[in-house]
Amino acid sequence: MAKKEIFELGEKPTLGEVPKKMHAFLVRQDRFGKPIDSWQREIIDVPKLGPKDVLVYVMATGINYNNVWAALGYPVDVIADRQKKGEPEDFHAGGSDASGIVWTVGEQAEGFKIGDEVVVHSGWWEPEDPWVLSGKDPMLAPSVRIWGYQTNYGSYCQFAKAQSHQLKKKPKHLSWEEAACYMLCASTAYRQLMGWSPHTVEEGDIVLVWGAAGGLGALALQIVSALGAKPIAVISDESKRQFCMEKGAIGAINRNDFDHWGVLPATDAPEYKAWVSGARSFGKAIWEIVGERKNPKIVFEHPGEATLPTSCFICDLGGMVVICAGTSGYNVTLDLRYHWMQQKRLQGSHLANDEQAEAVNELIIAKRVDPCLSKTYSFDEIGHAHQLMHDNKHPYGNMACLVNALSMGEGRTG
Ligand SMILES: NC(=O)c1ccc[n+]([C@@H]2O[C@H](COP(=O)([O-])OP(=O)(O)OC[C@H]3O[C@@H](n4cnc5c(N)ncnc54)[C@H](OP(=O)(O)O)[C@@H]3O)[C@@H](O)[C@H]2O)c1
Repeated sequence: MAKKEIFELGEKPTLGEVPKKMHAFLVRQDRFGKPIDSWQREIIDVPKLGPKDVLVYVMATGINYNNVWAALGYPVDVIADRQKKGEPEDFHAGGSDASGIVWTVGEQAEGFKIGDEVVVHSGWWEPEDPWVLSGKDPMLAPSVRIWGYQTNYGSYCQFAKAQSHQLKKKPKHLSWEEAACYMLCASTAYRQLMGWSPHTVEEGDIVLVWGAAGGLGALALQIVSALGAKPIAVISDESKRQFCMEKGAIGAINRNDFDHWGVLPATDAPEYKAWVSGARSFGKAIWEIVGERKNPKIVFEHPGEATLPTSCFICDLGGMVVICAGTSGYNVTLDLRYHWMQQKRLQGSHLANDEQAEAVNELIIAKRVDPCLSKTYSFDEIGHAHQLMHDNKHPYGNMACLVNALSMGEGRTG
């Protein structure tokens, strides 16, 4: 235990010493709503560690869409959900992406030692879950949770509590804020693209990437490109085109050039014809970029309701639509005739396991994928950054906020 009860941000106790209290950004149930109001800075106790846990002195945090949902209290009240499972806290101290320094370790924590510089991936599961112990994919374990969304004491805390398997080496060439911004989106994108054999990205494949200038999309473009395949970006604004081309897209389609989005009309309704015509034109836009009548083997999805009918329609014979969210809504429709006759796959995907997080971290360390840091904000702007994301007004790529790092650009050691 440190001699002082609490330290200012950036002030360091002696390595391994832990104060009683810390600064953190929290959501409480009585302020669910606009992220800018919902996220507030407070002082809370530093959490106790379990035997396989580590405490990370957080230098910077990434900002992710999941904590926009947490602020809204929708579609899940994460606080009530945890209380049902027996956790006492009446707040959510979130944050699912961190760079920092290992400060203390539980007696059974493995792989990293006090003082190591790390990034944290957000796959969390009960260490004693029989599924996990049997060696199967922990992302399919009954106990799996997203760290800093479904668990408390994430990266918006001065000291974050994580499990030791979540730690990955911090890339030396990155500053704290660059290192903090990518892991959740990068590992999610990697699992979508490489986790669903035999539908994995191969050299020369056409891959359609929705929301390509967003956090997930910008990383997906680069991963596809690093794997030797050809990503096509979808954007809603011409100002995003250049950014996507710089991240490896072979072309970009502006979705505002089409108007057939949303729930599929009944297949016997007159509107269905107009929908098919819109979806066909969108498919033609893909062929124009490819230079031949070739459809995407993989469609990288997250908008859901607005776009999934089209994704399923234009996906190649035997191809896969892989989806990790319902950014535009969950009420999803598709014309099954194309689905079964052309033997397509619709695959849900969620975050990533340790191996997938490691694999994408190696691409970052090798400088084959850039974290796509868009803008860095201060600790006190955590609510503001979520509000920008909620309003789709955030800068392209991934945002970060400083936590214990005092200024931008610190932390590069190689
Ligand atoms: N399950 C998981 O493990 C996991 C992990 C990470 C993220 N996610 C989810 O994935 C989603 C995207 O995350 P992100 O970090 O990339 O968010 P982001 O940076 O806000 O990007 C989202 C992109 O979606 C596009 N978009 C918004 N509305 C759309 C619509 N109606 N139709 C088509 N595209 C639309 C926007 O691009 P344009 O306007 O340019 O088209 C925007 O850039 C979020 O819902 C997030 O919660 C899930």
